[in-house]
Amino acid sequence: MKILVIGSGGREHALIWALKQNSASPLKIYCAPGNAGIAQLGECVNIAADKHFELIEFARANAIDLTIVGPEVPLANGIVDEFQNSGLKIVGPSQAAARLESSKAFAKDFMQRHAIPTADYVVAHSSDEALSAVRSDRFGDTNAAVVVKADGLAAGKGVIVARSRAEAESAIAELLSGSVVAQEAANQILIEEALEGREVSVLLFADGHDYALMPAARDHKRIGENDTGPNTGGMGAITDASIIDPEVLDQIVREVVEPTLKGAVMEGFPFRGVLFIGLMLTAAGPKVLEYNVRFGDPETQAILIRLESDLAEIFQALVAGRLREVDIRWREGSSACVVIASEGYPGAYPTGAPITGLDRVIVGPALQVFHAGTSWSEGGELVTAGGRVLGITAWQPTLDAALARCYEAVDQIDWSGKQFRRDIGRFGQGEKASGFRI
Ligand code: AMP
Ligand code: GLY
Repeated sequence: MKILVIGSGGREHALIWALKQNSASPLKIYCAPGNAGIAQLGECVNIAADKHFELIEFARANAIDLTIVGPEVPLANGIVDEFQNSGLKIVGPSQAAARLESSKAFAKDFMQRHAIPTADYVVAHSSDEALSAVRSDRFGDTNAAVVVKADGLAAGKGVIVARSRAEAESAIAELLSGSVVAQEAANQILIEEALEGREVSVLLFADGHDYALMPAARDHKRIGENDTGPNTGGMGAITDASIIDPEVLDQIVREVVEPTLKGAVMEGFPFRGVLFIGLMLTAAGPKVLEYNVRFGDPETQAILIRLESDLAEIFQALVAGRLREVDIRWREGSSACVVIASEGYPGAYPTGAPITGLDRVIVGPALQVFHAGTSWSEGGELVTAGGRVLGITAWQPTLDAALARCYEAVDQIDWSGKQFRRDIGRFGQGEKASGFRI
């Protein structure tokens, strides 16, 4: 079977590793464009993830049986519809279903139509509308925090949790200025009630009728320990039974997962692909923060190291609408992914630093080094090539053991300016919405 994976990060490396690791039959994997770690498992193809036509040509010319899309941008731009119109099989939601991620206003209105619990909100179409929403008392008294969001995709830069109304007003001005997010992403601005509680990520496979949950995950977004400093794409993630109580998970399934999937069917865009629901567990019950219509990064690394079943078979069943026929099993225990990043990330960072010590890390089914931003230098050395560079990922019977395995490996690996958080998996008590988060 021939599989094409689209993307180039740690998420895509983990997907390809899991595909190969658990496959009952031999797989030939291509990745467009891939990275140095992925090149050890499959063939990297030099086509960018947004070049739909070239990707379709490649899939046709190489008789690809199944394509899997990692990042959100091609999904929002309709890559799934285009592949299907060309008679090619692809895992991911249609462009219509991808609006759950590509338009936050669409997602909030969808949740409202289907009575899915989420923060109270206003969609503003102008600066005046946005300012009058933050100046009103709709979101609590004017000392309360309020959240300002750009409607469209903004690579994590479109959400500001403002601790004061003055901060919210400057966030609105900043989003509308076009300096932080693209102008078209900020055509509509959302003002939301700030929720407080613990965040969890629930991911699932869905085939339009049926769904299967993955182990719940949590990630760490800030660069600094104790959740300080600016936001990143994610500095680490865990899966562990302590993340959600079984009753709360049942409540999330009843109040969020099923109404979302049924609502999508009712509105004519049955969801096929991977749905990632970001939730806040508030005192008033779980509430949706956002939908993503794809795997998360680095949640995927922590989740897939626990997958026992054949991932290619799951994806084939998903595109054929027979997910219920596959038995999806997960390894018992817990997992962790610790990201090691370049100096300066999430700001400007150097590339080309030689990475040492990888040969000292003994990888296997319980420990993997997933590459996010790596490449080969002309001299054949493995070098850094991105902000997030590696995701050290372990699965063990307990979270403490998984974290210990990760950090043992993290300490073996080095490059000039390497940075990571020592507190992955250690979440503070009484967490609150505060400051800037993705
Ligand atoms: P989103 O992209 O909408 O999920 O927002 C990203 C992050 O911003 C979330 O993971 C939360 O940490 C934070 N956030 C978003 N919406 C809210 C809200 N209504 N209340 C508190 N925090 C929020
Ligand atoms: N880690 C969050 C995301 O992938 O969107």
